[in-house]
Amino acid sequence: MENQTKTILVTGGAGFIGSHLVRLLVNKYPNYKIVNFDKLTYAGNLFNITDIENAPNYVFEKGDIVETEHLDKVFSKYDFDGVIHLAAESHVDRSIAHPTEFIVTNIVGTVNLLNAAKHAWKDNFEGKTFYHVSTDEVYGSLGDEGFFLEDTSYDPRSPYSASKASSDHLVRAYFHTYGLPVKISNCSNNYGPNQFPEKLLPLFIHNIKNNKALPVYGEGLNIRDWLWVKDHAVAIDNIYHNGVLGETYNIGGHNEWKNIDLIHKLCELMDQKLGREAGSSAGLITYVKDRAGHDMRYAIDATKIEKDLGWVPSIQFEEGLSLTIDWYLENEEWLDSVTSGDYQKYYDEQYNKREFV
Ligand code: NAD
Ligand code: TYD
Repeated sequence: MENQTKTILVTGGAGFIGSHLVRLLVNKYPNYKIVNFDKLTYAGNLFNITDIENAPNYVFEKGDIVETEHLDKVFSKYDFDGVIHLAAESHVDRSIAHPTEFIVTNIVGTVNLLNAAKHAWKDNFEGKTFYHVSTDEVYGSLGDEGFFLEDTSYDPRSPYSASKASSDHLVRAYFHTYGLPVKISNCSNNYGPNQFPEKLLPLFIHNIKNNKALPVYGEGLNIRDWLWVKDHAVAIDNIYHNGVLGETYNIGGHNEWKNIDLIHKLCELMDQKLGREAGSSAGLITYVKDRAGHDMRYAIDATKIEKDLGWVPSIQFEEGLSLTIDWYLENEEWLDSVTSGDYQKYYDEQYNKREFV
C-alpha cells in the first residue's frame, strides 16, 4: 500500500487533529501527495506542522471550503484520489455565541466540498473515497448508563453538534443519492499537543501556568470520553484505507472522566511538574454558571472499529495526560503565537461575561 501513488486532499490540516493526521500521512506514505487545504482561522496554525512543511510529498493550499471558487481551483490543480474532511468550526462555546458561523462552515462548507468532489470526479467514482470526520456529539447526551453505537439515533443539542449532524446527513445523502463513495467516523473528545487553548485541557494548563482561575462549568459533573489525538489520526488512516464505503465507525478511548475528577488529576500533575506546593493549582478552581444546554455524558462503544479494523487506543490516559502537559510547558513559543492577536482579547471578554456561582 505504501508503494502506491495517491493524491489526497486533507481539509483542516492546520488544526489540532488535522495537523497530527497530515504528519502521519506525509511520513507514512512517501509516495502519496498530501494536499493540506486550510483557511487558517484562529484555530488553524502552520506552526503545528513546521516539521513536515518541506517534505516533497506535502503541499499547503490556503483556502476556504465555503468559497466554491477556492475549491474549484484546488480540484482543477490536482487529481485527487480521496478527500479527508476535517475543516470545521469546532468549539461548542463559540457555537453558542455565534451559531451562524457554524452553519456556514460546517454545513454549507461540507456541501460545497461534496459538490466539488462529485463534479471533479465526473460521477466516475472508481477508486475514490470521500471521508468525513465527525464527532460523537451528534448522538446527544447520555445518562449514567449506555454507550453511543454507530446506529444510535442522532439527537444533537448544541449548534456545533447540530451543524455536524447536518453535515453527516448530507454526506450520507450523497452516498445514497449519487453513489458518492463516502465513509464517516464519529469520535469522542481528543486531547494532546497543538489543541487551541480554549478547549478544557489546554485552557486549564495555560491558566494554571499563569495562575489564572479555572472556570468549571456547573458542578463539574459532566463526563467526557478522552482519546489521545495521535490514536485518532491512526484510526482515520486505518478507516481511510480499510473501512467499508457507506459505513460509519465510532472511535473512542474507553476512558470516561467526570470533569472535576479530571481537573483535580490535572492540578495534581501540574503541581508536581511546576514544583509547586501540593494543592496550589486546585486552589484556582472556580465554579461558574453552567454552559447552556450542557450535554451530561458522552461515551463511545468502539467495538466495531476494533473488531472490523483491529484499531485500539495505544496509550494509557495517565501517560497521555503527562505527555500533553509536558508538551504545552515545553512549547511556550507555540502557545504565545496562537494566543497572540485577537485571541486573548476574545477570551478575556468571554471570561468577564461569565456569571460566577
Ligand atoms: P480545530 O478547530 O482545531 O481545527 C479546524 C481547522 O479547520 C483549522 O485549521 C481551521 O483553520 C480550519 N478551517 C475552519 N474553517 C475552515 C474553512 N471554512 N475552510 C478551510 N479550513 C477551515 O478542530 P479539531 O479539533 O482539529 O477538529 C477537526 C475535525 O474533527 C472537526 O471536523 C471536528 O468536528 C472533528 N472532531 C473533533 C474532536 C475534538 O475533540 N477536537 C472530536 C471529534 C471530532
Ligand atoms: P470542551 O473541551 O469545550 O469540549 P466539549 O464541549 O466538546 O466536550 O469541554 C470539555 C468539558 O469541559 C465540557 O463538559 C465542558 C467543560 N468545560 C469547563 O467546565 N470549563 C471550561 O472552561 C471549558 C472550556 C470546558
